[in-house]
Amino acid sequence: MPTFLVIGSGIAGLNFALNASKLGQVLIITKKHAIDTSTNYAQGGIAGVLDKYDSFDKHIKDTLIAGSYHNDQKAVKFMVKNAPSAIKNLINYGVKFASHDGELLLTREGGHSERRIAFVGDYTGQEIELALLANVKKNKNIKIWENCFACELILNNDQKSCLGATAIKNQKIMDLYADYTILATGGCGQVYLHTTNPKISTGDGLAMGYRAGLKFQDLEFIQFHPTAFNYWGEAKFLISEAVRGEGAYLKNNKGERFMLKRHKLAELAPRDIVAINIYEESKKSPIYLDITHKDPNEVKLRFPKIYDWLKDYGFDLTKDLIPITPAAHYSCGGIKVNLKSETGVKNLYAFGEVACTGVHGANRLASNSLVEALVFSDAIIKNLAQKNADRTNITKIQIKKNKSEYLKLNKKLENKLIAMQKNLKNLMWEKVGILRKMAEMAEALESINQLKSNLPANTKGLNEMLLETENLLITAELITKSAMARPISLGGHYIKDH
Ligand code: FAD
Ligand code: SIN
Repeated sequence: MPTFLVIGSGIAGLNFALNASKLGQVLIITKKHAIDTSTNYAQGGIAGVLDKYDSFDKHIKDTLIAGSYHNDQKAVKFMVKNAPSAIKNLINYGVKFASHDGELLLTREGGHSERRIAFVGDYTGQEIELALLANVKKNKNIKIWENCFACELILNNDQKSCLGATAIKNQKIMDLYADYTILATGGCGQVYLHTTNPKISTGDGLAMGYRAGLKFQDLEFIQFHPTAFNYWGEAKFLISEAVRGEGAYLKNNKGERFMLKRHKLAELAPRDIVAINIYEESKKSPIYLDITHKDPNEVKLRFPKIYDWLKDYGFDLTKDLIPITPAAHYSCGGIKVNLKSETGVKNLYAFGEVACTGVHGANRLASNSLVEALVFSDAIIKNLAQKNADRTNITKIQIKKNKSEYLKLNKKLENKLIAMQKNLKNLMWEKVGILRKMAEMAEALESINQLKSNLPANTKGLNEMLLETENLLITAELITKSAMARPISLGGHYIKDH
């Protein structure tokens, strides 16, 4: 039986693990609690052609328009055609999407020409995460280790195939060997000052891939979401686009709906246009989301989580203007993979936000990422079943002690790393953020290199926070270099002096 080491417990890792468990033994490692994932925070929903008025051609076209036709068209077709069955699989796993008389209720988000988003209130991701986890936990072929931090991929001597990964658990360093290793480590929003991403999204998979010599694609295309709740200058959590979809306005402190003058679709203009306009307008005034003109009971019913979260901060979604800021939301690029999710290193695969299949092109159509993770982690399994010949015949996941030691951080070093991360986030927000200038990006790159050289050298041993800081710096460098290599505006990558 083949063995699989899966790094990450979001939709990509869990869905892959459930598939792989039909072939062999799976170990999932995840750096915090299993539910600490972006998946768990997804609000809007999951896109697929599920309605008789919709068609594959329309979903393909919408995806290509959102991605400025920079997409890999084969990958888009592949995803769109397989999306409905992937969503039905989720229903089989126990996800209870909103429905009426046995028919799925579908909503619409910016950029979609039809209703094609299956959802569960404003907590679709949590429902998916919990359903997949429940299936994983009762599956005898899958083990899940929480608080297990992957540090490095283990390659064989010629660097052409992957044997597993080095990880830290309970301050012990170990090498984990398996036939197949899967990077499903999610995104990198924590590189930015404002982000909708959870704390785990520090680009670890990208940095591990970089150190292993993998290829990257499209990292300049960071999607900024227009509306994160802005609590005294800090983005706290996403306020779904669906709130604007249900009629919320964007206002400045004069009460003006400034988007009316900026785009014919006003608040429902493409996500990047709304984000840029809020970013510019917020230099003059705080910006608010206003849905107080809608029936309060309907608002509470449709957005129960957002309503409750805002209540915790003293805001009432049905009565108050809600301060918002744009925030880094999604990485369209990542480790370059082909339609079989192969990374170029044998026996190493990447799924979900860490990977770049080319589906999203220069900007992602809302609700296309959960489904992308599902479709690609479904498709691979037939391929792996046929690949028995490539196996290294590790019939049981092997755990070997690694020679490195665990590095305990003293307070001084910890504070230094906190300060470095803060510097980096500000830098990326200001200079490689929503609106970019070539000269500023060059300055950012210099500062990133400076920060890298400040990383404590000659420290013996491995430590999670030290690695995360290094991973954030590598990710920032990769994003900045990609952005500098494209001196013209395209999709979500805006060059102000172009
Ligand atoms: P994640 O779900 O982020 O999982 C990554 C996993 O990797 C985590 O378990 C993490 O702990 C683990 N990990 C990372 N580094 C390490 C390491 N070094 N060692 C061990 N484990 C590690 N998309 C949609 O399609 N529809 C939506 O409505 C939607 N809403 C969103 C709302 C929010 C607030 C956010 C942040 C994103 C949203 N997205 C949405 C995007 C979507 O949720 C993500 O792209 C998707 O969930 C990514 O899944 P993933 O499995 O690749 O990564
Ligand atoms: C949202 O609910 O606004 C986010 C949806 C997405 O990112 O796909």
